[in-house]
Amino acid sequence: GKVAVLFGGNSAEREVSLNSGQAVLQALLEQGIDAEAFDPAVRSITEITAYDRAFIVLHGRGGEDGQIQGLLEWLNLPYTGSGVLASALGMDKAKTKQLWQGCGMPTAPYRLLDQNTDFAQVVHELGLPLIIKPVHEGSSIGMSKVETLEQLQPAYEQAAVHDAVVMAERWITGREFTVVILNGQALPVIRLQPPSDAAFYDYEAKYQRNDTQYGIPCGLSNEAEQQLQALALRAFNAVGATGWGRIDAMQDEQGNFWLLEVNTVPGMTDHSLVPMAAKAVGHSFAELCQLILQQTLS
Ligand code: DAL
Ligand code: MG
Repeated sequence: GKVAVLFGGNSAEREVSLNSGQAVLQALLEQGIDAEAFDPAVRSITEITAYDRAFIVLHGRGGEDGQIQGLLEWLNLPYTGSGVLASALGMDKAKTKQLWQGCGMPTAPYRLLDQNTDFAQVVHELGLPLIIKPVHEGSSIGMSKVETLEQLQPAYEQAAVHDAVVMAERWITGREFTVVILNGQALPVIRLQPPSDAAFYDYEAKYQRNDTQYGIPCGLSNEAEQQLQALALRAFNAVGATGWGRIDAMQDEQGNFWLLEVNTVPGMTDHSLVPMAAKAVGHSFAELCQLILQQTLS
């Protein structure tokens, strides 16, 4: 039947989703699959009933957070990726961390911030540096690294532009990794090395610069890589995520891993990590799209 490739949408990650979705749509069409673009920001979502299944490539709120998934459940229309609960949880970085903490999994200490927060107290509790994040945002939008107490207020305000809920998380000094989960398996780990003049793996380092380095193989020992893959799979399953996704993590200087977040609709752009990890196990982009689409048949 006809596949709706859902991409675009209204979130701050619209541009990223347009790039991800175009790539997916093109790959499906090239394989002779009857697929069409569907941008819920442009068309009424009620028109989705004209399709038989949906490939969701919407990033961020409204598309990756369970809203569309709930509607598709209601319509009994099969879709790729996680269901309502995992999508909603994954969009909330603080709730995700609470869940992982509750399961005894390692994730850095954090605090929610609001206008009345005593920032000196936050620094006292969590130390410095901190990373300030809008709780429901993606692609590092609104995030900043804070090295001094004075930087915390402006960093909070910058994050608050994007979200009513803002958090401060303890900065983990070390190396950043990501683990792609595809159909129940963790793919080879990728190490991310943003350019040295970037404070972290920010929006520019993710999509606009060509000097971010992606290590695959990731440079960990086989044992450490397997340990991280197992942790990522547990973290993915703990939030109830299904199908495909990506777990982002840090390794501190003592060698301990710390979970950052789960992405239930990760990027599929030409700079993105899921296609890179898939390639490392021999899957072309077209095959990857096919494997994800098969989730709608089970
Ligand atoms: N939020 C972006 C799309 C990602 O995780 O790849
Ligand atoms: Mg994310």
